[in-house]
Amino acid sequence: MKGIVLAGGTGTRLHPLTLGVSKQLMPIYNKPMIYYPIATLISCGIREILLITTPQDTPLFQALLGDGTAWGVEFTYLTQSKPEGIAQALVLAESFLDGAPVALILGDNLFHGKGLSDLLRQEINPRGATIFGYAVNDPERYGVIAFDEQMNPVDLIEKPSDPPSAYAVPGIYFYNSEAPSRAKATQKSGRGEYEITDVNKSYLKDGALNVVLMDPGFTWLDTGTFAALSEASQFVEVLENRQGQLIGAPEWAAYQAGFIDETQLTALAKPLLRSGYGQQLLKALNSYGAR
Ligand code: G1P
Repeated sequence: MKGIVLAGGTGTRLHPLTLGVSKQLMPIYNKPMIYYPIATLISCGIREILLITTPQDTPLFQALLGDGTAWGVEFTYLTQSKPEGIAQALVLAESFLDGAPVALILGDNLFHGKGLSDLLRQEINPRGATIFGYAVNDPERYGVIAFDEQMNPVDLIEKPSDPPSAYAVPGIYFYNSEAPSRAKATQKSGRGEYEITDVNKSYLKDGALNVVLMDPGFTWLDTGTFAALSEASQFVEVLENRQGQLIGAPEWAAYQAGFIDETQLTALAKPLLRSGYGQQLLKALNSYGAR
């Protein structure tokens, strides 16, 4: 399975913060935002990762992340000159994917929780797609799942004014090889975007969509507004300081996934000692060292 992190877009909901720099380079406490989705993909055992960014931000992402060798992964960069929706990413990624199944994650989504990577991996539906449902207070901001009386998913609605349930669809999606062709078949929505919800609906219509309700014990945060950005930072700060445990650290995820060994992780930590981040990596190695 290959991975895509979508880090395009103009970030208008965070202007003026994102007038000069990509949203996905903004800090979530002690890490750039994009570290979190990358760590999530790595924790699912995904090594080949495509980063879709705007043309002006690509050099910044390359300076930050390089080619991935240090983390035992392989980054490929692709620019999206005109952001026209999440589904467009699947079309742009077609040759990168080359028929492989894919995990697509949005660059501004943060997931955390014990057993999350096991959950994500277990639920992958090889004959179609897997999406998740997560109950939130403000489902109207997201893609929302409609259920019948037996809680079977019957519809998906993008940003409904009258949400049929509290279950929003988080920005992590697993697809079989049909995703690019299904994305190509979608039409632009009222807001001028190729909607990922329409790709998911096409799988649903064919009985090929696995909808998994995420336990509220898992954390899903999106970071697309000032308040959400600040809350996500506080969440990471509180947990890391209380537990000493790193959240969304790709280096640690890579070690746990077996992509790098103890010597490589120690070498990654060394130049990061002054900020304290390196110490956190070393501490994680000492406390939870065994994979
Ligand atoms: C997008 C999707 C939406 C999904 C959300 C998750 O919304 O269109 O279905 O629930 O991401 O973050 P957007 O970021 O375009 O508002």
